[in-house]
Amino acid sequence: MRYSLAADELHLWYCPLQELPETEEQTRLYVSEEEQERLARIRAEESRVLALRVRASVRRIVSGYAGCSARELPIVRTPAGKPLLGEPYAALKFNLAHSGSWLGVAVAWQREIGIDLERVRRDDPEYRLRLARRFFHPQESEALSRLPPARIAAGFFTSWVRKEAYIKCWGGTIAQHSQRFALTVDPEQPAERVSAHWQEGQDTKVSIQDVWAPLGFCAAVVLSGSLPPLLRRRFWPADAERAESL
Ligand SMILES: CC(C)(COP(=O)(O)OP(=O)(O)OC[C@H]1O[C@@H](n2cnc3c(N)ncnc32)[C@H](O)[C@@H]1OP(=O)(O)O)[C@@H](O)C(=O)NCCC(=O)NCCS
Repeated sequence: MRYSLAADELHLWYCPLQELPETEEQTRLYVSEEEQERLARIRAEESRVLALRVRASVRRIVSGYAGCSARELPIVRTPAGKPLLGEPYAALKFNLAHSGSWLGVAVAWQREIGIDLERVRRDDPEYRLRLARRFFHPQESEALSRLPPARIAAGFFTSWVRKEAYIKCWGGTIAQHSQRFALTVDPEQPAERVSAHWQEGQDTKVSIQDVWAPLGFCAAVVLSGSLPPLLRRRFWPADAERAESL
């Protein structure tokens, strides 16, 4: 499969991992030998198959843009775990998130990219505020506590996915970076950064977007550069053949 991606586009793929038709044996054909060996060590069948489907789906989607076979796609990782493509495909950027049985994969040219996808839990607002005080920037937990109680859970998860996508765009980690920058928290407000980036003096212009997510989930994508990309959403594998002709 070969997909085309314009310079100003962001392609966002959603994949329902538990509905994929291939057997474990067939799925293995799409991943590298090193990944196969690592995944074979997962004893619990359900977790192993899910992890294998993540690896294979990401490879099948991203290799469709790179123009090589899924198995040969050269994926390398930064020391903090961010997956990147090696040469000759390094200009093609992607990131992924998985939550429950959904996988989200975002792909764009040249721009750093991060995605997060989370299941929304509508539990005790006080509990969410306590978590926010622990993990968010003080400006964010303060803004969250000013929302009406009925909007706190939505605000918490919106903030969470915006922040995590931001951290993943720059290849940071939650432990080191989540309290070192602030974004808007209200789902009804545009997603924006309201503090400096975590490291002063860096050119870190970003476009932060709340994006469509499957029912019961929320998601955000962050790209470097201030111009919002043209978003195209697709479902794997249902849209794979159609996407080829787009
Ligand atoms: C990645 C992270 C930001 C979010 O993780 P999460 O909510 O559990 O998981 P998500 O589903 O949103 O994303 C996971 C995917 O993000 C990607 N990823 C991992 N680390 C990343 C990073 N630092 N930046 C961008 N993307 C990253 C991976 O592809 C990962 O999936 P995979 O391992 O199956 O390939 C968080 O786990 C984190 O802070 N990790 C850093 C770990 C760390 O400190 N490592 C240091 C080792 S020295």
